[in-house]
Amino acid sequence: MIDLNGQVMLVTGASSGIGKALAGMCSEAGAKVALTARRPDRLKETADRCTGETLALPGDLVEEDHRKRLADQCIQRWGRIDILINSAGMGMYGDFLSTTEALWRRLFEINLFSTVFLTKEVLPHMQAQNQGLIVNMASIGGLIAHSNNVTPYVASKHAVVGFSRGLAEDLKGTGIRVLAVCPHLTATEFFDVSPGAEEMAPQVEKYKSFMDSPEAVARGVINQLDSERLVVFPTEKPAKAYDKQRDL
Ligand SMILES: NC(=O)c1ccc[n+]([C@@H]2O[C@H](COP(=O)([O-])OP(=O)(O)OC[C@H]3O[C@@H](n4cnc5c(N)ncnc54)[C@H](OP(=O)(O)O)[C@@H]3O)[C@@H](O)[C@H]2O)c1
Repeated sequence: MIDLNGQVMLVTGASSGIGKALAGMCSEAGAKVALTARRPDRLKETADRCTGETLALPGDLVEEDHRKRLADQCIQRWGRIDILINSAGMGMYGDFLSTTEALWRRLFEINLFSTVFLTKEVLPHMQAQNQGLIVNMASIGGLIAHSNNVTPYVASKHAVVGFSRGLAEDLKGTGIRVLAVCPHLTATEFFDVSPGAEEMAPQVEKYKSFMDSPEAVARGVINQLDSERLVVFPTEKPAKAYDKQRDL
């Protein structure tokens, strides 16, 4: 397991769910954590619960200026970025023909492009250090179609896995690793705030008792930060689901 003591981390999606749990646990393990999400009050809550040094930087990851500011402020404060965790994201539920172009674009903006372009801001600093770790929060939906009526989400997360694979190949031998984390259903706000949430609610209710907690997912991620594999399953559930429905 990686020793997080003194490591500088930038965690997106830190106001809620998996990102929030990761920020808290990594801070407890001694990491210096920069946190970002749009809601400043919720970000402050996460920062207040952290035990070590933190930097709360609210903003919208879809905006280029914000992404640049994140990397700049980490460097200004700590002089390096060891680990980038791209956890911010959203879901989308609905029959394919009812999904609009605007929603597809909004989903890809946050799930794929914010991950891609924030990584582009951070990577040069990692290259200067000859060391770094990029953790992209994909999903079991990035490997298989885990449910129906989630086509845009599945497409966006397959793209996150594809981006991670390509980048990992490019960075071989540089000391910078890439992980694509693939959680299964996790009990977070995700199911309340994503477009189509109302329509999805009966299914969510049915699966509630089966969901992982964000803390279990965060623990699973932290335990596997030193993994040599590209795809990481944080708990047993997504690993089992993948074994059952692998479509090679
Ligand atoms: N929950 C699941 O079942 C599940 C399963 C597999 C994978 N995942 C993935 O895990 C990641 C975390 O999801 P979660 O379950 O923790 O969901 P969550 O509780 O809804 O958290 C999503 C986070 O993303 C942030 N965010 C969304 N849009 C943003 C934007 N435009 N700019 C900046 N921050 C933004 C939100 O903060 P603000 O609203 O404050 O901006 C929030 O902190 C996502 O990538 C998701 O796709 C989730």
